[in-house]
Amino acid sequence: MDFSTLLQLDLTNRSVFLRLDLNVPLIDGVIQDDTRIRAALPTIQYILERTHKLVIASHLGRPKGVVTSAYSLEPIGRRLSELLHRDVLLVHDYAEEPIDSLLSQLGKNQLILLENLRFHPEETAGSEPFAKNLMKGIHLYVNDAFGTLHRAHSSIYEAALEVPRENRAIGFLIEKEIAALSQLTTDVRRPYTLIMGGSKVEDKIGVMLHLLEHCNRLLIGGAMAYTFLEIQGFPIGNSFVEREKRALCQSILDMAQARKVEICLPIDHVCGKSLDPETPHQVVDGIAIPAGWMGLDIGPKTIRLFESYIINSSTVFWNGPMGVFEWPTFAKGSLKVAEAVGRCMGFTVVGGGDSVSAVNQAHMAARIRHVSTGGGASLAYLEGSPLPGLRVLEKRADHGG
Ligand code: 3PG
Repeated sequence: MDFSTLLQLDLTNRSVFLRLDLNVPLIDGVIQDDTRIRAALPTIQYILERTHKLVIASHLGRPKGVVTSAYSLEPIGRRLSELLHRDVLLVHDYAEEPIDSLLSQLGKNQLILLENLRFHPEETAGSEPFAKNLMKGIHLYVNDAFGTLHRAHSSIYEAALEVPRENRAIGFLIEKEIAALSQLTTDVRRPYTLIMGGSKVEDKIGVMLHLLEHCNRLLIGGAMAYTFLEIQGFPIGNSFVEREKRALCQSILDMAQARKVEICLPIDHVCGKSLDPETPHQVVDGIAIPAGWMGLDIGPKTIRLFESYIINSSTVFWNGPMGVFEWPTFAKGSLKVAEAVGRCMGFTVVGGGDSVSAVNQAHMAARIRHVSTGGGASLAYLEGSPLPGLRVLEKRADHGG
């Protein structure tokens, strides 16, 4: 696929619509992690050096088409203003305040940030009139919202169609993400270790099946590991199990065998009595989990085994926590895996909310080659699913747009 990049656009004094993914974690209006805001800065700064007519748009959370103060982009606007040393004008109602008239009044030290796109049901519905309104008076469309490329939403797809193909481009973050993720499936260096965790097999099945064609070993942790252990006949006590996903898990095991990929499942566990942060807990030394207990993290022997595989790899991709990472008693497996990925000297990539949090908590982000800003989007990219946000930015169209 071939995309126009920012460097190929003549931005001088043109008006630019920039779609970003500023969907950052917030608690009571306080930003918990501004990685996505910082990741957008190179593109914003590059544009502002060439034109001051910039409109930034993003979603935040899932307010389902309703104006909800907890999902306002106000704190994000404040952070952007601090980082860019510019006034950020938060525009609440873009139907009442049309973009073209706002742009004509915009001062040189100002930029426009549209309030949460998802306050409007038209955004997720992919509405064309909504996109037309967003793009009033706009010459150029730039998308740098890597984390949202898998959504065919109005600002991602329809808005791009409002300008000619040669006036659309991807931003620097998308370029960087694609360059890193594509190295996981092209000319890979071996040994190549894939680490998958989290609770839902279904969300990861496409990526596992696709990457099994490239990797040498697959380490499985997190809740999904218990479904794999159960189909292999091990007692798993009260552990979380997706019974209706057993066939999917079996297809992974079959494919791994056919492709001679080694599968590593937990050989010991940290177990609790119930799904509760304060539950009594113990290390279960062995694969089998006793009745009345549930596996909530990988145990110390599994950590050592996983560490030795990770550190001796030339390529590593990690997505999904090894246990209930948000509760300190069951976070150790994920933190140790984060450390091991940081210590690995090979090409390392981490994607997905909890794995990225583990990397940050373990202070390993700077030692990992690429920390993806996309959860679902990076999985969709790696499983080879079409991404509407990218498709609409391809240089040559195989569709109507
Ligand atoms: C994400 O956090 O993965 C992106 O911002 C997309 O959010 P969504 O899953 O609510 O579309």
